[in-house]
Amino acid sequence: MKKFTKILALALAVCLCMGLLAGCTGGKDPVEPTAPASNGGDDAAALKTVETGKLHMSTNAAFPPYEMTTDDGGFEGIDVEVATAIAKKLGLELVVDDMGFDAALTAVQTGKSDIAMAGITVTDERKEVMDFSDSYATGIQVVIVKEGSPIETVDDLANAQMIGCQKATTGYIYCSDTPENGGYGEDHVTAYETGALAVMALVNGQIDAVVIDNEPAKSYVAANEGLKILDTEFAVEDYAIAVGKGNTQLLDAVNKAMAELKADGTFQDIVDKYIKAE
Ligand code: ARG
Repeated sequence: MKKFTKILALALAVCLCMGLLAGCTGGKDPVEPTAPASNGGDDAAALKTVETGKLHMSTNAAFPPYEMTTDDGGFEGIDVEVATAIAKKLGLELVVDDMGFDAALTAVQTGKSDIAMAGITVTDERKEVMDFSDSYATGIQVVIVKEGSPIETVDDLANAQMIGCQKATTGYIYCSDTPENGGYGEDHVTAYETGALAVMALVNGQIDAVVIDNEPAKSYVAANEGLKILDTEFAVEDYAIAVGKGNTQLLDAVNKAMAELKADGTFQDIVDKYIKAE
């Protein structure tokens, strides 16, 4: 009995030494996980997130039908439901962090959130400071005007006294650019905290047009009498999920989860729930 314990202890000690040795001499190279985390979902334990067991999504929940608040203080929308499904596949619980749109982008850049999902358009400038998943939707920048407005096409925007956009959005970036670059100059664009506030200003006659993404535009026009969307489009863009620059582990996991949600129809079901076919 005693002898057996001794042998066991010795064996344990040997194992421990070998383990330590391997750990010490091995450096970084040999301890590489056998299954790379790029396999995504199956390896959720290896995913480092802001908060253990959670996937923090920074967003601006004022962008129907992608993200909006519910009456009871919760969140809903395409992005919210898709992110919930992605988190589930990664073995994580989704936490929605609602803030200004510019703050939502900053949060993911500075590691305060794991992903930013907010109908975010992929642009070269943003790609320099964050990484993007495969695109999951097309966004179109459209123009909202009052019925009977002299602005009848996108070209007429050049005659607008004042255009309204949501702060930090591509609509604002394009419109506030110089005329040489296809914009109208900062003096002709007002940035609002939300698209809804820009639309309110249009309804009140403070501005001549709003440049905003097509899906929220549709919902604002439906909710406010006397507005219309111009037939001509201002810009066509791709939406994607943002992760911190260089966070390939999470990016690969998100892309894999999204591909699965697309393959099994979950993604389309969520979209169809919020966007009715015309
Ligand atoms: N697609 C536009 C952009 O990326 C607007 C997105 C605004 N999203 C929001 N949740 N408010 O700039």
